[in-house]
This record gives sequence, structure tokens and C-alpha cells, in this order.
Amino acid sequence: MLDKANQYIKEKQGEVNQKYKPQYHFSAPIGWINDPNGFIQIEDELHLFYQHYPYDSVWGPMHWGHAKSTDGYHWEHLPIAIAPDQEYDQNGCFSGSSIIVDDELILMYTGHVEDETHRREVQAIAKSKDFINFEKIDANPVVAEEELNQNASTEDFRDPKVFIHEGVYYFVIASKNEEDRGQVLLFSSKDMMDWEFESVLLNANESQGFVWECPDLIQLEDKWVIVCSPMRFPEDGNKYSNVSSSVAFIGEMDWANKKFILETTQELDGGLDFYAPQTTMFNDKRVLIAWAQMWDRTMPTNELNHQWAGSMTLPRELYFDNGFLCQRPLSNGFNNKAKSEFSMNGEKIISIPIVESGMYELTFDNIDAENIHIKLYNEKESLLFHFDLNSKELMFNRENILNKIYNTDGTESYTRTLDLIDSDLTKVQLYIDKSVLEIFINDKQVMTNNFYSKNPLNLLDIETDKESSINISEYIN
Ligand code: FRU
Repeated sequence: MLDKANQYIKEKQGEVNQKYKPQYHFSAPIGWINDPNGFIQIEDELHLFYQHYPYDSVWGPMHWGHAKSTDGYHWEHLPIAIAPDQEYDQNGCFSGSSIIVDDELILMYTGHVEDETHRREVQAIAKSKDFINFEKIDANPVVAEEELNQNASTEDFRDPKVFIHEGVYYFVIASKNEEDRGQVLLFSSKDMMDWEFESVLLNANESQGFVWECPDLIQLEDKWVIVCSPMRFPEDGNKYSNVSSSVAFIGEMDWANKKFILETTQELDGGLDFYAPQTTMFNDKRVLIAWAQMWDRTMPTNELNHQWAGSMTLPRELYFDNGFLCQRPLSNGFNNKAKSEFSMNGEKIISIPIVESGMYELTFDNIDAENIHIKLYNEKESLLFHFDLNSKELMFNRENILNKIYNTDGTESYTRTLDLIDSDLTKVQLYIDKSVLEIFINDKQVMTNNFYSKNPLNLLDIETDKESSINISEYIN
């Protein structure tokens, strides 16, 4: 299975249509990707594994792809790490995580088995001494029905995120209870092999969605945070309006009772295309990466037969500002690459010719404009961002892009609004990469959106309702 997949990639990757393929956001050489898995720092490199189906641009039996990078912008592809080739993972090696134990890299993942009549998810381990070739252990599955007991069913029991705390190994994992409510469970082990159920760390109320996928428990500054991706989290004003959301539950950890004490809840990204984030420590920073896509939508690269689908966000550093969980780009591959500078000196509009794989940094000098429009466009297509600082909102619109994206109910997915936490702008960064676009606001909030314009958007307009002074730097990867 593994050799077949690696051989297929080698032979076929040259056939991939590169038109929309991002250059500095990670994507697979060929085929489908979804969640980031096993994200970890080894020596001075980031290793990224990911849910992968190499043979088509739609989801299929999951393999774990593998790549590494020193900066999160330039990735080197490595051979596929694991493939669904055992009885307990025959329909997919689902999401999971990694940890180094005694110089070995251990992947912990979910073995998925499903047919018309039944479905079973168990946890399994694969190990590597060279960090490239992995072997599944004979003792697999290491966590199954016996350990789960009455706490949930193995029908939905997936995405273990393993970590060590005060000398004990733990993982958090997604499941749901008998009432179909999402919950995050905690397991512990002294040796990574024998696992014991500890507690239900957090569960959903009756309307908060079923299966809280891909949980991650992290300590950040003086708080603990559960990051997870609930399916069908309820909409709340402008928040959680995607079919599935990525949420940060912020609070304290009561380690004596193995309970999470929830204080605040926050949506992680304000865009249309962001799911299943996972974090790791990287050079003493807590870094997050996510799938820059969303379930239950059409994907133009699949429909156009480009032979690939899905990419990751840029790695982002997490930190708190006044209790708000902020994200800023990991200091980055664009460093010291300033290409051009533009500025609005007391003007209301500026037009800039742009390149597709660049980063634009806008810095504001005491702006008193209330409305700022940013338009990326060509003759026939445009993408719009509108900051309304009075109502503290950022509106994104991709309606005027010719390749449309549809939800499963046939409606078009084209707009989202983000509530801003600040009422002024100091810095806005636009990362434009073929079909992926991330906009960072004041180094705190982010929106991730895809767009598949027929022709490159080669002009950028910034328009304000008062004479403004904004400096714009363009960087090219
Ligand atoms: C989240 C998810 C995980 C699962 C994986 C399967 O996007 O549904 O819960 O492990 O994708 O590919």
C-alpha cells in the first residue's frame, strides 16, 4: 500500500495542473489533503503529516502524507508515512499526532473501519527511528472498546492529540455521548502503550454540535486552551457560520480532578475556509496550522480536474492579549524581501499592480477613516474586503469570482463577516497565494478564504472615506 502510493505520486505528480496550486502554503504533490496531523518540531525543523488521498482530488481512504520545513513557508515533501493496510485501519488512517520518546518518533492515529452495517474507530501507533520510515506496532490497536468502556462508543472516537505533562503521557480525543453531543475525553499512560480513561474534559450542551473533532489541549501563558473543531456548532451573530467551526475554549486545568474549567469561548478564524487546526511548540512559540478548506463545499480544483485539492494555512503563532487568543504569522519566509513600497499620503485611493504570490503589508498612521475598501481584481473579477471601523466589522466577498464554490444545499458560499476586537487598524497583512488568501488584522485576528479566479487578480485598490496615510509594502516569496 505504502510503496504503491509513493510510486503513484512519483509517476503522476508531473500531471498536476498548477494554475491554482499555492506556492508557499503547503499542499500535497498530488491528490487530496485535509487535516494537519503529527505536527512537531524535530531539531530545527517542523514536521507536518497530513490526511491524504493521493489517487484523486476527493476524500478517500486516508494515508498520512509527510513533509518538513525550517520556516513553514518552504516545504520538502517526504515519502508517505502510513497507509491503510491493517485490519483495524483498513478504511483509513485518520487524524492524530506525534511525540518523540527515546529518540523515536511515535505517530498516534485513529484506525477507521466502516461498512454498511458498522463503524469502528480505535487508536494505533506507528514508530520510526529515522523519522521517515514508520512501522505499525504489533500491539495495535492500543486503545479500543475495553478502554473506552461506557464513556462513549467506538463509532466516533478519533483524533488523539498526545502530549506529556509532569512525566505522564496523555491524549485528548474526540467522541460523542449517547445524546449525540460532542465531547473531549482525556486518557493517560505511563509508557505510551497501556492507556487508561481519565475523564470527560469538556462536553457540548444540547445545541453545540456532535463530534468535537481534532481536539488539542495546550498551555499558553497562564491559561489552558482546548482547540477543537465541532461539527455543526451553532451560529451566533457573525460567528460560527460555517457548517463546522474551529473553536478555542479558554480556561483553567484542574489536574487533580482532571477537569477543564471553561472561562471563555472564541472562534479561531473568521473566514470561510479553515478547519481542524493542530498546534506544536516551535522554537519556544506555540504554533498552529490548519486545513485551509471546509467540508461540504464544492472544490473547483476537483471539478476542473486539476488533480489536487486542499492546502494548509500558514503556521501562526498564538499568544494572548487581554484575554483574547491572538494569531500572527510565524516570523517568516518573507523576511527581508521587501520588493516595493507604496503609500497613500493624504489621498483617498491608491491602485497598485500586484503579483499573485506575494504578501502585502499595510501599516496605518493614525487613521481616522471609518470605511476602508480593499479590492483585488482584474478586468472581470474581484474580491472585496470592507473594514467598517464604526461597526467594528470586516466583510469579505468573493461573489465576483468566476469559478463559484457551492454548499451542499446548492447555495453559493461567497461572504463572511468578522467582528473586529479593535476599533482601529495598525497593521493589515494580506497573504495572496494563487487560490489561498489569509488576511491578518493587527497581528490578532485572521480570515482564511479561497478563491479561484479565471485570470490572475493583478490589481489592488485601497480606498478610504477620508484622506489617509497608509504605507504598503509588497513582498515576494
Ligand atoms: C476532520 C476529520 C477527522 C478525521 C479526519 C478524516 O476533518 O473528519 O475527525 O480523523 O477528518 O479524514
